[in-house]
Amino acid sequence: MPADRTLSDDRGLPLPGMFGDRIIDAANSLARWSDSADGLSCTYLGPAHRAVAGELCAWMKQAGLQAYIDGVGNVVGRHASARPNAKTLVIGSHYDTVLNAGRYDGRLGIVTGLLVAEHLAKAAVALPFHLDVIGFSEEEGVRFPLPYIGSAALTGRFDPQWLERSDADGVTLSTAMRNADLDPDAISTLARKREDLAGYIEVHIEQGPILLHENLPLGVVSSIAGAARFAITITGDAGHAGTVPMALRRDALAAAADVILLVEQRCATVSRLVGTIGQILVPNAASNVIPGRCDLSLDVRAADDHVRDAAIEDLRAGMADIQRRRKVTIEIKEHSCTPAVACSQQLRKHLDQAIADAGMKPFALDSGAGHDAVMFDGLTEVAMLFVRCGNGGISHSPRETVTPQDADAGARVLLQAILALAAEAN
Ligand code: HGY
Ligand code: MN
Ligand code: MN
Repeated sequence: MPADRTLSDDRGLPLPGMFGDRIIDAANSLARWSDSADGLSCTYLGPAHRAVAGELCAWMKQAGLQAYIDGVGNVVGRHASARPNAKTLVIGSHYDTVLNAGRYDGRLGIVTGLLVAEHLAKAAVALPFHLDVIGFSEEEGVRFPLPYIGSAALTGRFDPQWLERSDADGVTLSTAMRNADLDPDAISTLARKREDLAGYIEVHIEQGPILLHENLPLGVVSSIAGAARFAITITGDAGHAGTVPMALRRDALAAAADVILLVEQRCATVSRLVGTIGQILVPNAASNVIPGRCDLSLDVRAADDHVRDAAIEDLRAGMADIQRRRKVTIEIKEHSCTPAVACSQQLRKHLDQAIADAGMKPFALDSGAGHDAVMFDGLTEVAMLFVRCGNGGISHSPRETVTPQDADAGARVLLQAILALAAEAN
């Protein structure tokens, strides 16, 4: 972990600026590990992923936390309470990434929590609850078509049937876990009990332009969009590009083009509804072969589940029309569906107050991105603190940026909110 240059004021609180540089340094250090020579890619249980887990665990121990890597690869660090039967406040985010990713998505939240816990541990601040900082092992759903593996295991929402899902190389999740010396049979033992949790707070980059536009370093999340992910398989007839007349073709890729435009048009009709086809694959593609099959991903989200579900129904009907008109078959398989989450008023109040106490304007915004926080909904109070992104708010891109000053503000607000929760619990 970058050197601890945290200096404190007479109340024992870190002087402004003392967290920010270390958060940026840490994100840069973790970004050294990638499965690709071209950009940052750190997908579940690959070599880079295991190296990052080891580095985070070592940093947590250096910070004075009780730290370990659990059965699905989550890295857990605890600043323990002296109180018997203390509940646990969880500060978490994920350390896996998308392909060719930015270096702050997920990692900023883990390192912010780690530095705040380190400050509390080194200042020997006694809390009425355990403070767990958790680096969740898999949130993006890139290697396996399954988001939230790490936080689902920790919240008892892991479905054992997921173990048979396989990656692009045909490796099943259970095999990948065993190859990484993890034990898929022990996953159910990781689940935290509702009564043991005091709350969940996630610090995350906004991944959008709103805070930039408002000229604010921080925002408190009001709700997290519900997301549904599907795999679509379109099957037509492969054929010779030179001999099959256009009117006789059952071209799977041309049908996919209709599906892509259907998604774009339907999801553009309602604000805060989005639909994305992020992946397209033509097996055995060749320039002189009419595509006989085409595989697509589909991701549909909205702040309101009813809006999302109505859009999905319309997309299913529209694809049935394309299927009839083009004489292809279109199979739609749902991979995951998480409901929209309303964040905790109680925790939002503490985050807003900490922002105001730090001389900044409290600001609420909803999250179009999904986060590990959604797995804690229904189990405990859930809140998120967004940190401003630069470069127009771009994310899931190497152009993702955060300033040390904004990262520092996020850490100091998190620290204040934890202290306010502790005072409330005492
Ligand atoms: O897809 C998402 O919203 C998140 O980045 N996993
Ligand atoms: Mn992401
Ligand atoms: Mn994320």
